[in-house]
Amino acid sequence: MHLAAHFPGVNNTTVWTDPRAGSQIDFASFEHLARTAERGRFDFFFLAEGLRLREHKGRIHDLDVLGRPESITVLNALAAVTDRLGLAATVNTTFNEPYELARRLATLDHLSAGRAAWNVVTTSDAFTGENFRRGGYLDHADRYTRAAEFVATARELWDSWTAGGVPRPVTHHGPHFRVRGAFTLPRSPQGHPVIIQAGDSAAGRDFAAATADIVFTGWGSGGRPPGKCSTRHSTLAAGQEFYADVKGRLAAHGRTADSLKIMPGVTFVLGDTAADAQERAATIRRQQVSPQNALLALEQVWGVDLSGYDPDGPLPDIDPDPESQLAQGRVRLADPKALADRWRALSEAKGLSIRETVIETTGRQSFVGTPAAVAEEMTAYVAARAADGFILVPHLTPGGLDDFVDRVVPLLQERGVLRTEYAGTTLRSHLGLPDPVRPVGKD
Ligand SMILES: Cc1cc2nc3c(=O)[nH]c(=O)nc-3n(C[C@H](O)[C@H](O)[C@H](O)COP(=O)(O)O)c2cc1C
Repeated sequence: MHLAAHFPGVNNTTVWTDPRAGSQIDFASFEHLARTAERGRFDFFFLAEGLRLREHKGRIHDLDVLGRPESITVLNALAAVTDRLGLAATVNTTFNEPYELARRLATLDHLSAGRAAWNVVTTSDAFTGENFRRGGYLDHADRYTRAAEFVATARELWDSWTAGGVPRPVTHHGPHFRVRGAFTLPRSPQGHPVIIQAGDSAAGRDFAAATADIVFTGWGSGGRPPGKCSTRHSTLAAGQEFYADVKGRLAAHGRTADSLKIMPGVTFVLGDTAADAQERAATIRRQQVSPQNALLALEQVWGVDLSGYDPDGPLPDIDPDPESQLAQGRVRLADPKALADRWRALSEAKGLSIRETVIETTGRQSFVGTPAAVAEEMTAYVAARAADGFILVPHLTPGGLDDFVDRVVPLLQERGVLRTEYAGTTLRSHLGLPDPVRPVGKD
């Protein structure tokens, strides 16, 4: 089983009202989570990316005020305080340039002695694009053709020096990029940093099948991040379906099923008994969906100001505004009216208030139970080919992984599904992936 640690930050999962919640800017927070993950013999530490603070009713979204430092910089610092843990940065291909990003990722791979990973995202909204020179001008298909050419160009640069350490000029002329000149660095320890992909459309899945070493996906949900699964809850069957679909696309690219690892982002709650764990999970959900957060979640669907509504009262009977700009930077819903109708039907059928409806519909903890039950369930999901491992998203920063590593990891190790020691030094070795072969003529 492969495990990774997601640093909990700007999202609806993290509970900031808990007295144990710390800073998400201080290096001590990153260091604590990374060291804990390494103590648990995890494959890697993972940072997401957001390039613009989200807005709600024209104001900065409360959660974003906590801030988010630049990922590769943080990972370079973590390289100095960890030995084996992989270091994964989410960096988009829409607002960057391949030469510059390839250089920064190769630097991380050199400084960490072969532990760098790049989560390739395309970033969907023009709202984010407004912070960049070209703006959010790319439509969906172009974002993926640019992403494919971006990664291919980065690979040309990473492959460009000879084994003897002689730089060779690269000439790349494509629809999106033109690069002419030698790369600034010799081949890095892993050859190419590990490539992760997060994006769920057919184009995204094909891109992953052609290019990636790991897919980061929502939990059994067909791709939506945890907390955003507003239409259906995670099931083993949904996980298996996604797994089979993505692995099934590999053969067309001449790849085998074990060359790509599928790792959903998941949450967990531990308790001394099953009942204790359920009670804790319910408490955490109520902390995550405070009365204010419940109205905020509703406004993101309806797109209109609902501050006059009582979070403990019934859902509004008005329809959502499909053209709304009220919440910017959020994941866009394909059909807000259909979702609002479903929520209303559920709320009426079960007699749920606004807050209870949001709690009921917007994701729940993926694994809830005693350490033994959680270890067993996670093992079963991997055995049933619903995942190759998990990216754990704790609800507390930075200590949210402590319990898992102290109480679940030893059980996974006893079962023989998790390593007790790292076998190799690079992230590729943790994942059981070979180093990329230099193309013929470039050795
Ligand atoms: C699990 C998951 C995590 C993602 N994380 C990020 C992120 O941290 N930053 C970002 O800009 N986009 C992120 N994305 C968005 C993707 O890059 C992509 O733009 C979006 O999913 C649209 O592509 P798609 O239609 O193929 O899903 C994420 C997507 C998924 C499914």
